[in-house]
Amino acid sequence: MTIKAPTLNVGGLGADPLEGRIKEKQEKWRYKIAVLSGKGGVGKSTVAVNLAAALARKGYFVGILDADIHGPNVAKMLGVEKADVLAERLEDGRFEMIPPMSDFMGQTTPIKVMSMGFLVPEDQPIIWRGALVTKAIKQLLGDVKWGELDFMIIDFPPGTGDEILTVTQTLQLDAAVVVTTPQEVALLDTGKAVNMMKQMNVPYVAVVENMSYLICPHCGNEIDIFGKGGGKRLAEKEGVDFLGGIPIDLKAREASDNGIPIVLYEDTPAAKAFMEIIDNLTAKLGGNEEEEKGE
Ligand SMILES: Nc1ncnc2c1ncn2[C@@H]1O[C@H](COP(=O)(O)OP(=O)(O)OP(=O)(O)O)[C@@H](O)[C@H]1O
Ligand SMILES: [Mg+2]
Repeated sequence: MTIKAPTLNVGGLGADPLEGRIKEKQEKWRYKIAVLSGKGGVGKSTVAVNLAAALARKGYFVGILDADIHGPNVAKMLGVEKADVLAERLEDGRFEMIPPMSDFMGQTTPIKVMSMGFLVPEDQPIIWRGALVTKAIKQLLGDVKWGELDFMIIDFPPGTGDEILTVTQTLQLDAAVVVTTPQEVALLDTGKAVNMMKQMNVPYVAVVENMSYLICPHCGNEIDIFGKGGGKRLAEKEGVDFLGGIPIDLKAREASDNGIPIVLYEDTPAAKAFMEIIDNLTAKLGGNEEEEKGE
């Protein structure tokens, strides 16, 4: 039976069978990938949705969870809305949320989208204590009909706070993609996020540099607005992989404002850069798997 989603109960703390449900569900997700950064506004959500869209365009089954309660943008960037969330009553009387899906007019496999933003009224400020945030994230992992996924991508708010701690402690992440921009202040904060992921024993940690340069619309030259090569240097310093850089692209912003990731919108330099990054990432994950098998 399919009905409209009821008001979600994110209150009530304490020991919870939710943990068990998350454990069961994550066994059906082949790769669990966190997208994070120490800093705000560097393009985490843009990277997360393009990662999801590019993978789905290749035919993989993808879910994306927006774990940013204060600035949830993923749903908008993928053209889905809170009103699209349905719920199903299970045999034991519980409700499970059914994530809205988008297949971009058949361009991709349907991408399943859930967001912290679906749990709260859109136009009110959110004053949530850490414990509630933790509970809400767990519900979005354990009480959602995600089904079998090749990739579960989780987009985090800036920093290294409760959300990322909860997920790294609850899920066995396969990879963390840490997004930075090239300037020194961003690199400093990003270094902290890389280190946190290493400390949490995430098996594969890599850096992506966004807003690497601007292609001048008049002369076509590259302009290094935020400096050059910072992301690569950071990756080298921290001993992690550098997956690539994405230029500033006016179409990328336009695409996400229109609810379509740039990789499905137009074949711009940013779209090409995203596709290369995704190829690098999938090759690495596949390679790591081969290594594990070989051991
Ligand atoms: N390569 C790019 N070229 C042009 N615009 C971009 C690019 N990357 C991101 N943007 C734009 O910059 C803005 C911020 O990006 P985004 O929301 O992805 O950052 P974020 O790191 O997720 O931010 P927050 O810290 O608030 O979660 C958005 O309007 C997005 O469209
Ligand atoms: Mg974001």
